[in-house]
Amino acid sequence: MKLNWSDVTPHRMFLDRRKFMAASVAGLSVAGLALAGRAGAQSAGTMTGAPSPLSTDQTPNTFEEITNYNNFYEFGTGKEDPARNAHALTTDPWAVEIGGLVERPGSYGVEDLAPDNALEERIYRLRCVEAWSMVIPWIGVPLAGVLDKVGVQPGAKYVEFETLVRPEEMVGQRRAILDWPYREGLRLDEAMNPLTILATGLYDQPMPNQNGAPIRLVVPWKYGFKSIKSVVRITLTDREPVNTWKQLQASEYGFYANVNPEVNHPRWSQATHRVIGAGLFGGREETQMFNGYGEQVASMYAGMDLSVNY
Ligand code: MTE
Repeated sequence: MKLNWSDVTPHRMFLDRRKFMAASVAGLSVAGLALAGRAGAQSAGTMTGAPSPLSTDQTPNTFEEITNYNNFYEFGTGKEDPARNAHALTTDPWAVEIGGLVERPGSYGVEDLAPDNALEERIYRLRCVEAWSMVIPWIGVPLAGVLDKVGVQPGAKYVEFETLVRPEEMVGQRRAILDWPYREGLRLDEAMNPLTILATGLYDQPMPNQNGAPIRLVVPWKYGFKSIKSVVRITLTDREPVNTWKQLQASEYGFYANVNPEVNHPRWSQATHRVIGAGLFGGREETQMFNGYGEQVASMYAGMDLSVNY
């Protein structure tokens, strides 16, 4: 049996290492900071991301929890289906087609978009629309940097994302559970927000297939369905993109999907959520507006009625 990261590294050590890294970055000279900028590194199956002030200091879920309780309908609708089936996905080679209203359209490799020297660790809360949550230590790069690299044309207002279609390897795609490919979108200002990342790893490991290898979006103030996995296409457009869950049931899932305890899902309350890993009885928490990231994102929605734009 193959050992997982968490089998060999106690959770405590992960946290202590993180504190140590944060402390050493804080104590560095200006010359040292240039080095710290290159702190991200990948070797022999491990990755390191430079610590970020945007990380929460909440305790992350275990690697087991994060990789065994998933939504990834391309591999089935059960929470344990992705862990069982996603190993079949070939993630190398991989290309992301970037096009639409950009200066430098083309086919980009994962290492072009998220080079080792740019990797950051972002420990974020993830709040699923189904009213459960986790804390996940992602490794990735700000999407803004990627968009700057490809050059956004002045007419662009939205960013559209697509997951690959490969039913030979993705058993869930052999049935029309969703209208494949899985699609998502963000307004350009949301895409450029410093919290929005393209993640290529978690817990200092390359991204596990069930979590969206080799590269996925993470938007922590929105319901988890916005954080599209295994991305193969990014398109800049001037029109609001179609997103899969809204397309399936627009009365229940919107384009914005900002975490909002005051706007309930038609079939359940969004005021609280179940904390995965907290046990059957102890684990409910009050849901925070924008999943607790209001300070960084609320201004983007000033003047908008979020019960209409849910
Ligand atoms: N991306 C694709 N391509 N397919 C999916 O089914 N599910 C979404 C999102 N991204 C999904 C997806 C939902 S509903 C959630 S809650 C998150 O992925 C879950 O991410 P995680 O399994 O890494 O925790």
